[in-house]
Amino acid sequence: MSNTVCIDEKIEIKTMPFIFVIFGGTGDLSKRKLIPALYDLYRADKISEDAIIIAHGRRDLKRDEYQNIVKDSVLKNSKGDTSLLGDFIEKCHYVGGKLEEEGVVDSFNTIFSTINDLAKYQIVFYLATPPNVATDILNFISKSKLCKDFREKKIVMEKPFGIDSLSANILNKKVHKVFLEKEIYRIDHYLGKETVQNILFFRFGNSIFEPLWNRSFIEKVEITAAEDIGIEHRGEFYEKSGVIKDIIQNHMMQLIALVSMEAPANFEADSIRDEKVKVFRSISNVDNDYIKENMVIGQYERGVINNVEVVSYREEKNVDKDSQTPTYFAGKFLIDNWRWAGVPFYVRAGKRLAKKQTEIIITFRTPPLKLFGSACRKILSNKLIFSIQPEEKIALSINMKYPGVENYPHPVNMDFNYSNLELNKLSAYERLIIDCIRGDLTLFARQDEIEEMWEIIDPIINYFNNSKSNIQKYKAGSWGPVNGVWLENE
Ligand code: BG6
Repeated sequence: MSNTVCIDEKIEIKTMPFIFVIFGGTGDLSKRKLIPALYDLYRADKISEDAIIIAHGRRDLKRDEYQNIVKDSVLKNSKGDTSLLGDFIEKCHYVGGKLEEEGVVDSFNTIFSTINDLAKYQIVFYLATPPNVATDILNFISKSKLCKDFREKKIVMEKPFGIDSLSANILNKKVHKVFLEKEIYRIDHYLGKETVQNILFFRFGNSIFEPLWNRSFIEKVEITAAEDIGIEHRGEFYEKSGVIKDIIQNHMMQLIALVSMEAPANFEADSIRDEKVKVFRSISNVDNDYIKENMVIGQYERGVINNVEVVSYREEKNVDKDSQTPTYFAGKFLIDNWRWAGVPFYVRAGKRLAKKQTEIIITFRTPPLKLFGSACRKILSNKLIFSIQPEEKIALSINMKYPGVENYPHPVNMDFNYSNLELNKLSAYERLIIDCIRGDLTLFARQDEIEEMWEIIDPIINYFNNSKSNIQKYKAGSWGPVNGVWLENE
């Protein structure tokens, strides 16, 4: 397959001036993803020279102490060229203290007072914080009138958005008191990944697959998000979240929607989101009997990954030694609509699995007649694989004749790999930050999308909370619980 692509080199992206306020500015997400993404955008000349970054954290840090954190995070996590780091840290400010302390608003205003012509700026509030502090931050933004002098205001809210459908609904109401829906960017970084966006381009930019994209030709869809890392130093967060809230409710649901949605009326944000919501509404209601039969959770025990011995989940820092929090989920979802009735969507995700691998495999039905092959040379199903990580590629497996006098079918792959394009691609966070500043909501979740995703997930969480004994142990470095639904299916 030829990898030659014509890229319009003239497309220039450069944002208008903005102030980027990060709540949770010294946290893990900021250090690993946000600050490096902002730096990489700055280095690539994609953001305005006038951009200003203000991190808020509870700790009392001096500006130069925070700038050292920024340096460290860029050196460790940016794309590599750190030649503009000196200029970049001059854009970074820090405000410390609890939000209810009076001095905090003053500290913001002192920074604003050093900026010429505030009215030309938009202000973006990024909540890189757990869901339980979102309300306090919203109250703070509203009471302190921080946005009043700016051209535009926006808020970016990290996942999980709420902890169930009720809390998501309440949080949506609260955020709407301060921001209009068009100013709210509910981020899911999976949607910023090129290969994830490519699902829609692949489906609707080619005429050959869409006619086959339904229950008549597709046997099953398998979606995997396997990670070899553990919970790192996020024990406190993970204990409350577990894999279902951390990955299934958001990233996996979004992948299901992109694979299965109908063609949108156009490529505008709301048209795409309308179609995704329809998918969520069509996912069949899961009751306890269904969950028992079709879903499994697990938790990792000690094991070896990449020749290194790793501890069990319960031995991780800030984790209860009797914790029942799942680090693995596998389950089957069904979409009860005309296109997909009866086609299983198998989803699995977990920490400390054998390797990092995120992929979607679409398995097509085998031909109706078995004309070729023998008992040991079966015709394999055609498979279309969207590999999201670590490799970003799309591969299609097809059967050909193995050379020789016998009629043996032999599977081969046609593939396209993004790494062959030799382009300086934007990382997911870079892409989403740019979209937010430019006002494009397409890759962000709408209010109803979030609530519908929770509606699917709530009964699953309730079921497993009420039947803790169902959690299965698996060895770190393995592919999850031995009795996992997935393995039975393989
Ligand atoms: C985050 C989760 O949303 O996604 C993490 O909170 C997980 O637990 C991460 O490790 C995985 O993202 P990626 O892009 O590395 O697949």
